[in-house]
Amino acid sequence: MTTHPDIPKFMTTGPVLPVMVIPSLDQALPLADALMAGGIRVLEITLRTDCALDAIALIAKERPDAIVGAGTVITPKDAEKAAKAGAKFAVSPGLTKTLAKQDALPLLPGVATSSEVMRALEWGFTHLKFFPAVPAGGVGALKGIGGPLPQAKFCPTGGISLSNAADFLALDNVLCVGGSWVAPEKAMKDGNWAEISRLSAEAVQKFS
Ligand code: 3PG
Repeated sequence: MTTHPDIPKFMTTGPVLPVMVIPSLDQALPLADALMAGGIRVLEITLRTDCALDAIALIAKERPDAIVGAGTVITPKDAEKAAKAGAKFAVSPGLTKTLAKQDALPLLPGVATSSEVMRALEWGFTHLKFFPAVPAGGVGALKGIGGPLPQAKFCPTGGISLSNAADFLALDNVLCVGGSWVAPEKAMKDGNWAEISRLSAEAVQKFS
């Protein structure tokens, strides 16, 4: 599958795509509610915890206003399971030939170098996650890639926070940024949903 038209739509729904790691299912709805109260609608739940697929299913069923996607999708099987749970899109840290061929979900695949961008473009993917954004060269790398490959559009993720997101969002080839800073581990652990709403609203207001 090439870049599905939903991917650019989801990437431009808001400036921040929250990367969510949900350790326990009872956190799923309060977390989704907190992010949505802050103005974030598109949510990425990583398939890194045992309850991730159940969390996707629960949010997809109970919160129809949210657009829930699955992160850390590595194989076509992951994408199939996520689609079955109700995910609307998939995000992967990198791109393989087998994953490129999956057709269970619209895919936002990860890249980190110009060769990887070229290969993704060759396979029909124009909208990409730049990962891990800061360690892979940050704003300078994306600016550099944008010279010869301006047709590729990015959601940089990895090491992004309130303090550096604006620098990424100022680039012509960046449509949104991804990050976990709006749902920090400690706030999740403490059930501090008000803090997560505050961080989300702060990000949405600063970057919209
Ligand atoms: C990830 O998939 O872990 C994302 O890149 C999140 O990175 P962050 O925690 O640095 O925002």
